[in-house]
Amino acid sequence: MHNPAAEAASVSAAVQASTPLLQVDQVSLQYRTSSAVVQATHDVSFGVYPADRFVLLGPSGCGKSSLLKSVAGFLPPASGEIRLDGQVVRHPGPDRIVVFQEFDQLPPWKTVLQNVMFPLLASKTLKKREAAERARHYLEKVGLARFADAYPHTLSGGMKARVAIARALAMQPKMLLMDEPFAALDALTRRKMQEELLMLWDEVRFTLLFVTHSIEEALVVGNRILLLSPHPGRVRAEINSHQYDLASLGGAGFQQTAQRIHRLLFDEGAAPAAPEKPINFGDVRFSY
Ligand SMILES: Nc1ncnc2c1ncn2[C@@H]1O[C@H](COP(=O)(O)OP(=O)(O)OP(=O)(O)O)[C@@H](O)[C@H]1O
Ligand SMILES: [Mg+2]
Repeated sequence: MHNPAAEAASVSAAVQASTPLLQVDQVSLQYRTSSAVVQATHDVSFGVYPADRFVLLGPSGCGKSSLLKSVAGFLPPASGEIRLDGQVVRHPGPDRIVVFQEFDQLPPWKTVLQNVMFPLLASKTLKKREAAERARHYLEKVGLARFADAYPHTLSGGMKARVAIARALAMQPKMLLMDEPFAALDALTRRKMQEELLMLWDEVRFTLLFVTHSIEEALVVGNRILLLSPHPGRVRAEINSHQYDLASLGGAGFQQTAQRIHRLLFDEGAAPAAPEKPINFGDVRFSY
């Protein structure tokens, strides 16, 4: 089961021992429309270490999805650089798999097993037999081995989400990118999916970049959280949140941190004067 204390120790050891797997370095993102240039983020920097569950948190329109798209290789930075394993990201690649919110994108004419096998075959990563083996392995991990031959329309929303996650993990990417993956689910299923994601992480230790605008979800899912200010997104603060999981929901420490994040996100008055470098402030690194 999820063990925040052991995880904190292993994560901080990993942080000290390694360089970031993903380096986002002073990235500004823009969209050029026929009439204007929209600035989505300004000078955003962060590093994601192996096995991090790194969360981008901020209000609607602050550029979270744009940052994810840019890491995925779909949106080149207007300035700054994104590096994965030291290599500049210029294109999408099988080393970064995006799990979208619309799980109904699973082709309905393919069985669950065929859905999970599909990217492995399409990318020529594996031959049919090995792909089936790997797909079954990850379906087992997400608890859907019994549904391998079922069709997506016979599954619940939560089960479809698990198929989508199994499909992504089967590609064994360097990073899993998730943009509000559980936003369309009802509250109970959403909580269950968060729990399952953490259990799966405990087992597989994948590196996750996760976008949400829910403070609670960020604290539960993430071990580190980057707070982004409203449009255009700038880094507001970075928070260590490895100590929280679903069991901490409603606890005093959890509530206090949630309130502190809320103030940082929405209360301009709570922001200290703009220092040039991030300041260590307990478990919160401020930077403006
Ligand atoms: N394809 C596009 N063309 C032009 N502007 C865009 C495009 N996509 C996003 N934007 C703009 O870029 C800014 C950041 O958008 P983005 O979707 O990254 O925000 P977000 O933080 O993911 O918001 P939400 O929480 O609502 O999903 C917004 O002002 C948005 O209007
Ligand atoms: Mg978005």
